[in-house]
Amino acid sequence: MTENIENKFKSARKLFPVTGNKKNITYLNCASTGPLCKPIKKVLDDFYEAGLYLDKNWDYAAFADLDKIRKLGARMIGARADEVGFGFQTGYGLNIAAFGLPLKRGDEILLSDIEFPSNVYPWLALKERGIKVKFVKSENRFFDIDNFKKAIEKKSRALSLSFVQFFNGYKNDLMEIGKICRDHGMYFIVDGIQGCGVETIDVHKCGIDIFAAGAQKWMLSPQGTGLFYIRRDLQKKLKMPFASWLSVDWKLNFTDLFHYDLPFFDSARRFEMGSYPYSHVHAMAAALELIDSLGIENIQRHNHRLLDILIAYLKASDYYHIVSNIKSKHRSSILAFACDNVGEVHKKLLENKIICAHREGAIRVAVHLYNDETDIKRLIAVLDEFE
Ligand SMILES: Cc1ncc(COP(=O)(O)O)c(C=O)c1O
Repeated sequence: MTENIENKFKSARKLFPVTGNKKNITYLNCASTGPLCKPIKKVLDDFYEAGLYLDKNWDYAAFADLDKIRKLGARMIGARADEVGFGFQTGYGLNIAAFGLPLKRGDEILLSDIEFPSNVYPWLALKERGIKVKFVKSENRFFDIDNFKKAIEKKSRALSLSFVQFFNGYKNDLMEIGKICRDHGMYFIVDGIQGCGVETIDVHKCGIDIFAAGAQKWMLSPQGTGLFYIRRDLQKKLKMPFASWLSVDWKLNFTDLFHYDLPFFDSARRFEMGSYPYSHVHAMAAALELIDSLGIENIQRHNHRLLDILIAYLKASDYYHIVSNIKSKHRSSILAFACDNVGEVHKKLLENKIICAHREGAIRVAVHLYNDETDIKRLIAVLDEFE
């Protein structure tokens, strides 16, 4: 990375109080919750201050800039702005998929057997409509493409899969998997929350039909924000599982609302639900702008460089072993490792204010743009006590 980019990362770090000395925290837990930065706090403070007095024309102020945010989100995943809408979390977009896709009794949905539950229950809820879920067996806790191919039958209509697996950071090869879906006439739905904002992706090239991601993790945004993408030519073929006053093209006309014949938006917005959590959505813009200014490729490189230090330490250790797949194609900004007494090591890390997660028998470390080498060194210093 050039010196210029490195300086940008140093400046970005300063925007995140979680990295400061005030609370002496080492934050390595973005896969759970993304920390907020100062520009976000400013947007939220301004919104709440305005909410105390409501002295500006709130009706219109709340809607300003929403298109800009959709565009930023779209650029992050290689989509068009009219393919992206605001959801409140990942489950929002996944429910649009489950209840909107033209599925019928007897159809089957394939899921991996190691999905986060957000990407399981919307599909299981289709049981009463006679639509079944089949779990594809993972190997070594990684999604297995051969098992996926073997699982496909005539009645298989869709695969819904995580971009990055939440507990071990396994990044799925969405390009190859998308091609298999297309070859079999199956819809391809992606739970993108563990990758969106930190991993490069082109939803078009991967042949993804619907992509859903809460913004509360790697998009570094407040809770209750998120994005969904729906492929352009699929939008009108989806059933509308719900509709709201913001699903129609009302042209921001607050003065004349009794026309109930307005057309639904000819874009992903037809699946948006009113009213938005405006303050949080506006705050999201500050985070997306920061991510955009650094560039996802640079962020990915920055994060991998940090995790390389940890990987070298773990590889040399007799005590710990890496459980993540660290091949370049499958690695992400999450690294999981285990040892005999994971619970105890995790407890010790928390006592030392090294914030990381204990998931599925391993310690999960998640780094993002605000982390630097000192964070990894502090982690290693505590791990070393168990060697
Ligand atoms: C892969 C994955 N999907 C979804 C979620 C959360 O879902 P939602 O944003 O709907 O709360 C998480 C973690 O919280 C996750 O790791």
